[in-house]
Amino acid sequence: MSASNKVPTWEPPFSFTPENLAKAHKIIANYPVMRRASALMPLLELAQRQNDNWLPRSAMDFVADMIGVPRVQAYEVATFYTMYNKAPVGKNMVRVCTTTPCWLRGSDDIVATCKKKLGVDMGDITEDGQFSLHEVECSGACVNAPVVEINDDYYEDVTPEAMERIIDAFKRGEKPKAGSQIGRQGSCPEGGPTTLKAFTAPDQGGE
Ligand code: FES
Repeated sequence: MSASNKVPTWEPPFSFTPENLAKAHKIIANYPVMRRASALMPLLELAQRQNDNWLPRSAMDFVADMIGVPRVQAYEVATFYTMYNKAPVGKNMVRVCTTTPCWLRGSDDIVATCKKKLGVDMGDITEDGQFSLHEVECSGACVNAPVVEINDDYYEDVTPEAMERIIDAFKRGEKPKAGSQIGRQGSCPEGGPTTLKAFTAPDQGGE
């Protein structure tokens, strides 16, 4: 069973909390008055975080009005970038990269594991609201494919077993260690460096 996260028909009203309003003014102050439109992206992101990680149209309108840009400009930005959610999402957003490098490294199996473990299809939210499952284009970490983004973290070199373990940890309310799931440091080769294993100073015969 799952709840769809398609665009809702209702529109919750939106305005920044006093705390976020202060943050918003700080963000706006980073830009020259004539370039206030540049604050659009960080303000939309702030609005999204305040609103359970999704942007109702009322939030886009509020942000656009705040910096004096046409509302359609906020819609254009929010609909272009996948980092902005135009519909409710789960408390934990699971975004599986399925672009070619991740696909070649097994993203189909990762998608299948997520669907099975969470009991939802792509784009859906679990009944308890704890998870939503999404497919994304290249997450920009192909060297450690396959990659799954969960909330603000990247889980890399993910196997079906690791994916199960990660989801189970989130279900228990834990935050499993992000990064490579096979112990690679950064994007080092598996098993450690294969070249330049030792440094020899020039005066000791090195170049
Ligand atoms: S293709 Fe998945 S991170 Fe680039």
